Amino acid sequence: MPKRIFSGAQPTGNVHLGNYLGALRNWVALQRDYESFFCIVNLHAITVPQDPKVLAAKTRELARIYLAVGIDPEVSTVFVQSDVAAHAELTWLLNCVTRMSELERMTQFKDKARKQQENVGVGLFDYPVLMAADILLYQTDLVPVGEDQKQHLELTRDIAIRFNRDYGETFRVPDPFIPKVGARIMSLADPAKKMSKSDEESEAGCIMLLDDADAVRRKFKRAVTDSGTEIRFDAARPAINNLLTIYHLLTEKTPAEVEEHFGGQGYAKLKADLTDVTIEFLKPFQERVRAIDDGKLDEILERGAARAEAIAGPTLAQAKANMGLTGAKS
Ligand code: TYM
Repeated sequence: MPKRIFSGAQPTGNVHLGNYLGALRNWVALQRDYESFFCIVNLHAITVPQDPKVLAAKTRELARIYLAVGIDPEVSTVFVQSDVAAHAELTWLLNCVTRMSELERMTQFKDKARKQQENVGVGLFDYPVLMAADILLYQTDLVPVGEDQKQHLELTRDIAIRFNRDYGETFRVPDPFIPKVGARIMSLADPAKKMSKSDEESEAGCIMLLDDADAVRRKFKRAVTDSGTEIRFDAARPAINNLLTIYHLLTEKTPAEVEEHFGGQGYAKLKADLTDVTIEFLKPFQERVRAIDDGKLDEILERGAARAEAIAGPTLAQAKANMGLTGAKS
């Protein structure tokens, strides 16, 4: 049996270069070596308020983005989370083996809850359990994500191990796949913060995959640097390190080649070249996004949901049976 990967992204805000370099790029690289499931996690999106029309449009836009970055629907399963009811149902079962204290420790919850103040929804608190359900339903071996998902992955493992111990072997315990380089792309405006689609004030620091060339030029032009002059990879100089990391990943030049390329040059050259390679990457990508036919997209998502259901259904049935949930249908 080939090993399986599962991952997903939320159809909220705009997909940015951090999402691509930290996650989507690796999905594309791994899809032929694993049986792959890539989900558009719209149930996660509604854990904070969404405009229904915008959410529906963003869901389809994200599916187009998956395909345009190179996810091959003939090889991988692409589907929308709310199309497979097992995700919500398994979440309930897992809620009953997850502790409040575990969820209270989640740093993403604490960050998001701070922003929502008194209107923190129960769904937001439960977000990591839904994520565990996503992963465990597919008996996933590997979960390719950026660094910010590491804590959620650890919780998923803990939940799987506890469920297996209490109710018998039910779920495969997944491993995270967090790339050595690119797992945490930083904001161009504030290199102490990660590039983030939910943080409105950081728009200027975030290159969106659907940005036009002018926006890309402007954002790199204004990117924060430092008072040094030398262009080399150095973790102690996060702004330059971040720009070089983006350049390295987009060009696939080795770090040594990148340093050699910029040897003796100033930051203006770094920004100019980075702008060029980013636009060169985005232009054909955006053409592919626009070229995907609506009917074809429907067909891919329908087929994806059916394939996902075929794996998720039996896992859910096993989990229910192991918990003693029997009724008319058992
Ligand atoms: P989301 O939509 O926030 O992000 C999608 C992916 O992009 C990664 N990422 C980054 N990588 C590098 N640098 C950054 N600045 C950066 N920002 C985001 C994220 O780590 C993620 O891999 N909870 C998930 C979605 C999810 C999921 C799942 C993922 C739901 N269920 C099951 C894996 C498996 C999320 O909010 O991703």
